[in-house]
Amino acid sequence: MKRIGVLTSGGDAPGMNAAIRAVVRKGIYNNLEMYGIKYGFQGLMQGHIEKMDIGSVGDIIQRGGTILFSARSDDFKTEEGQQKAIEQLKKYGIDGLVIIGGDGSFRGAQALTAKGFPCIGIPGTIDNDINGTDFTIGFDTALNTIIEAIDKIRDTATSHERTYIIEVMGRDAGDLALWAGLAGGAESILIPEKKEDFDNIVNRLKRGHERGKKHSIILLAEGVGSGFDYGDRIQEETKLETRVTVLGYIQRGGSPTATDRVLASRLGAKAIELLMEGKAGIMVGIEHNQLVSYPISEILQKESTVNEEMYRLSKELSI
Ligand code: F6P
Repeated sequence: MKRIGVLTSGGDAPGMNAAIRAVVRKGIYNNLEMYGIKYGFQGLMQGHIEKMDIGSVGDIIQRGGTILFSARSDDFKTEEGQQKAIEQLKKYGIDGLVIIGGDGSFRGAQALTAKGFPCIGIPGTIDNDINGTDFTIGFDTALNTIIEAIDKIRDTATSHERTYIIEVMGRDAGDLALWAGLAGGAESILIPEKKEDFDNIVNRLKRGHERGKKHSIILLAEGVGSGFDYGDRIQEETKLETRVTVLGYIQRGGSPTATDRVLASRLGAKAIELLMEGKAGIMVGIEHNQLVSYPISEILQKESTVNEEMYRLSKELSI
């Protein structure tokens, strides 16, 4: 290995910059030449490739987003697209690639590895929905953004004695809603992995109101359905004034927390170590605060599951 490329792909996540920094600096520390690929796989196919030095990643550890930009590319999913990508990598003499992103990005990593080009994946997505790692880069920051919002909404909810539905991201994954619901003391947490009987939600709200509760908060992952539809139905059934807040892309931005910066730095450095050892088609992760690595093929086979103990606890604490 002499030249290594790095790219970010899919939905951006706070901490991606810290990961890019770690990849580039760890590479340079080991006398490798480092290249940044802009606009994810789309940019790779089009040859948006630039040499990076120590200074290219200065002053970015605290910045959200990704200095390499990101994209979701349909062209790259084709055989032709992948061939174009390999041609570009050859043209620049790049021998290995670090790909920071979610499961879609890992499919790309696997495709290139299968074509003989070594790739290492780093889990970067606010959704925390990747197997083989306890946490993904960006999750902690997004979670803290949501908690800040919940605390603010709680103030106004109490003043007006209202029920609030807070819709958070998570198309197929409920971790953001579950963790935020637990940390924010929500009455109900609705996530794609678990079916919740609508009557249960209504009854819990009614019970709370009868007990003298001044407000209620419901955390809803976007994959479950529209917050506005839920809001209408809940107001109709409970006759309690109900409002809806969709947090949206605010959850994807912002300066990464210390936890995300440290995680990104550790995973970024580990990715370089693995490439130097000649590994390919591997994702780095963290389990019980120890760095781990698994074949991407294995990671993509299993479905990401929700923490049952936490889900049960959320029910027990919101009686
Ligand atoms: O993958 C992260 C995520 O934030 C999901 O939770 C969300 O559904 C999706 O990205 C939206 O991404 P975009 O609108 O950028 O395609």
